[in-house]
Amino acid sequence: MCPIDEHSPAPQGGLTAGSIGVRSVMPPREAAGPLVAPLSLATAHHQDLDDVAPTRYGRWGHDSAAALEEVLGTLDGGTAVVFNSGMSAVSTVLMSLLGAGDALVVGADAYYETRQIADQLAARGVDVRPLTDVARQLPEAVTGARLVVLESPTNPLMRIHDLRECARLSHAAGALLAVDNSMSSPLGQRPLDLGADLVITSDAKVVGGHNDIILGHVTARGPELVERLRSWRHLHGTIPSAFDCWLTRRSVGSLEIRLARQTANAAALTEVLHRRPEVLDLRWPGWRLDPDHAVASRQMLRGGGLLSFRLPGRDHLHRFLKASSLVVPATSYGGLQTMANDIATWPHLAVPPGLVRISCGCEPTRDLVDDVVRALDAAA
Ligand SMILES: Cc1ncc(COP(=O)(O)O)c(C=O)c1O
Repeated sequence: MCPIDEHSPAPQGGLTAGSIGVRSVMPPREAAGPLVAPLSLATAHHQDLDDVAPTRYGRWGHDSAAALEEVLGTLDGGTAVVFNSGMSAVSTVLMSLLGAGDALVVGADAYYETRQIADQLAARGVDVRPLTDVARQLPEAVTGARLVVLESPTNPLMRIHDLRECARLSHAAGALLAVDNSMSSPLGQRPLDLGADLVITSDAKVVGGHNDIILGHVTARGPELVERLRSWRHLHGTIPSAFDCWLTRRSVGSLEIRLARQTANAAALTEVLHRRPEVLDLRWPGWRLDPDHAVASRQMLRGGGLLSFRLPGRDHLHRFLKASSLVVPATSYGGLQTMANDIATWPHLAVPPGLVRISCGCEPTRDLVDDVVRALDAAA
């Protein structure tokens, strides 16, 4: 896996992505000015009766959204538009780009609620083509399609799609490629650099990182795409609040250091887990023995904090989770605390009982490894 700062271009004055994040929480330097951006809650602004300045209104855009968009766009390598949730970002891409008669190709392993939106579109005349095997089926399925939507790594099974190849095939067929990058964040993977046209992120996860924000964003390079996303948000009223934008911008400042610790924790856990006889089907894209590692190492900047594996049955998994002090059973991922999700309880996934997705947190690596080993021993 490539360390991020060797891989990612330095888009601003020679700074790497981590430094851009750290500096982004500060407003422009001024004598005796604050080091942290102030929060402005104003949604209405004085109108210039001489009509020199544009009229401003909070649903159309606000300073906190613009400041967050600037840093997220820089990190993704395009122009970002923020939304009031990851699903709002997903639905804006799907709804604003597709109408009756268009074809949508979507990974059958995409986030469940993304597929539910695809089902709604199908009921409105969109030709939806779900793919169970993207590498094998995409070359044919993309013919005549307007949009391809993929996730990589996939949630929760941690499979990797070759995004460069998917972009090449999509473009050759005249389709746009949108990649949901929630699992990686822009410091773990930059899909626009791999050829994608749109990158979608739920910032409630790795980017927000504290389990206290619901927010999402889409980044694109083409000005027409960006304008379409902005005008959809304007009309449908899906801009996030100033406070959520401010909190997310604060989180971007510590993204690099959190992701580095989460990745180190996932690497250390993988090393321990793959030696345990009761641990089956271990997946972590940063692991040299992962079936998708070769593709992952070509396109990801960091392996990230998410891994999955299977214990022999649900009771075994529950004994493990109850015996652990640091692994918190919870939905969501990417936060400070290590979290685990009992995937077999997800109604839409036919996976064997005992499968678990672990989102490594920022605990010291030794503590986490010791805790997991103790809990596995207790559960055995
Ligand atoms: C891959 C992925 N995309 C989109 C979403 C939706 O994001 P949000 O919960 O912020 O609406 C999630 C949420 O879990 C997700 O995991």
